[in-house]
Amino acid sequence: MMKHLIDPLDLTAEEVNEFLDLADKIMEEPSKYRHICDGRKLATLFYEPSTRTRLSFEAAMLNLGGSVLGFSSGTDSSAAKGESVADTIRVVSNFADICAIRHPKEGAPLVAALHSEIPVINAGDGGHQHPTQTLTDLMTIRSLKKRINGLTVGICGDLKFGRTTHSLIKSLARYTGVKFVLISPQELRVPDYIFESLQAKSIAFKQVERLDEVMPELDVLYMTRVQRERFFNEEDYIRLKDSYILDAKKMELAKEDMIVLHPLPRVNEIAVEVDHDPRACYFKQVKYGMYVRMALIMKLLGLEESEC
Ligand code: CP
Repeated sequence: MMKHLIDPLDLTAEEVNEFLDLADKIMEEPSKYRHICDGRKLATLFYEPSTRTRLSFEAAMLNLGGSVLGFSSGTDSSAAKGESVADTIRVVSNFADICAIRHPKEGAPLVAALHSEIPVINAGDGGHQHPTQTLTDLMTIRSLKKRINGLTVGICGDLKFGRTTHSLIKSLARYTGVKFVLISPQELRVPDYIFESLQAKSIAFKQVERLDEVMPELDVLYMTRVQRERFFNEEDYIRLKDSYILDAKKMELAKEDMIVLHPLPRVNEIAVEVDHDPRACYFKQVKYGMYVRMALIMKLLGLEESEC
């Protein structure tokens, strides 16, 4: 049956581990996989800006021997003339073998999947979910910390609108003994459905407002930017945008082996001086993202390693 990736929980925990294992193998020996997608095409349908996600999908497909086509904003496609996502994917299904879609409206990739003849990957839908960023984050944590179970993970910033945080929390909650420290202003706390799912599963978590108070407990600190594009008014954004700034002084409070991640783009929530700290891993994280997307494309196209 054709498989899509719309929500991180569309993948079982076993499937996630398979993706991560395959991504590790690709990273070790990328040349082995350079022809596995010969003749295949990836469509990137991006109705919202992106640097990492779109380019890493495109690099992933090119590295597998395939080719790419698509658009990078709603205004340079027929969406500008009023075409629906459902009609667009029906059309694109004739041109490509697999598709990654980003859209400002929550649920748009699901609509695409319901009308698609090719696998659809959610590359970020509004303030909802971003499952391939989560695969990237899991691969980064597993590679750098050598485990995921039992870690204390601080997630800081805009937990209300930050789709990467929603997907990450849902996924990490499936690992044993992960503790969450959710650091945000009151107004930017996680949505109720995330809060209630943690409570329902009796997962250890706390919600705090001060980053410096919890720094010493953390094994992973996941920083996020305040999502200006999701605010209803500029005044609220301006009031909240500088809520957290991670700097060298705050890093002094952290464990020596804590890692700092960020889905990027960064605005000012991590001071540039932190980039030189060996615990700053957000640029390494980007690299893992390309390998995990290579693994995802292979798996969703039903391609096995034995075909390399
Ligand atoms: N992390 C992420 O989604 O980055 P882009 O918006 O640049 O794709």
